[in-house]
Amino acid sequence: MQEKNKIVVAKTAGFCFGVKRAVNTVYEQIESGDNNIYTYGPIIHNEEVVKDLASKGVKVLESEEDIQSLDEGTVVIRSHGVEKRIYDIVEEKKLKLVDATCPFVKKIHNIVYEKGNEGYEIVIIGNETHPEVEGIMGWCVGPVTVINSEEEAKNYRPMEGKKVCLVSQTTYNYNKFHKLVEIIGKIAYNVSIVNTICSATNERQVEARQIASEVDSMIVIGGRSSSNTQKLYEICSEECRNTYYIQTAEDLKNVSLVTGSVGITAGASTPKNIIEEVQANVRFKF
Ligand code: F3S
Repeated sequence: MQEKNKIVVAKTAGFCFGVKRAVNTVYEQIESGDNNIYTYGPIIHNEEVVKDLASKGVKVLESEEDIQSLDEGTVVIRSHGVEKRIYDIVEEKKLKLVDATCPFVKKIHNIVYEKGNEGYEIVIIGNETHPEVEGIMGWCVGPVTVINSEEEAKNYRPMEGKKVCLVSQTTYNYNKFHKLVEIIGKIAYNVSIVNTICSATNERQVEARQIASEVDSMIVIGGRSSSNTQKLYEICSEECRNTYYIQTAEDLKNVSLVTGSVGITAGASTPKNIIEEVQANVRFKF
């Protein structure tokens, strides 16, 4: 047990490196005096941040047609990355491109692009409808297959005479990735596997579990529809029965903490100021 009334904030709570970098990029762009800034899709799935950027004049482009309709301005690409096609449109339209694609995602784009050009067939372990995977697919120059379940892995058949290059969505579950690779390894023989899973999500989950197992109450901060926050809540609830899921410091009014120590963690799209505000307000709950 932690000492009484102690507050422990997870070091990995909130933005990962790539998201922090993308959000900072937009703010830097605003500070540089550029007043015609667009992000392709919301820069992050957090309403507070998107609202703040909107109040500073940043607009969100929802589709390729939205880019096509622009005559000038700066387009910021978010951390998930986008298809090569989007870069081409921005270039054709002579708009300014600011690329905030996470370097770990960019690395996957480079791998699939190069290997595709060398004649490899590409397999992506991931969810086909996730924007990151859509972006990766958009850098594939030849055949590509997305696999997201054991059944899909079992049904997969490599193309005759092609070597296979296999990559993963960065946020994919490590155990599931291994399971699927094992199945594919029995079907396809000439596979070069590049594990492109990013450790940020796993590290956040491991630390949350560790803290939750040692405190009397645990607070998980994040958007209600954020799947990585839901997962954190699930993990913490397994370790600490007084686990609360809140979105902002405001929600603390509905929380009655038990006496003792409190742990705090937050999902990948929760900004630092919200975490700090919760931390400051928790002190008044004892
Ligand atoms: Fe974040 Fe980049 Fe990893 S966006 S989850 S640091 S791949």
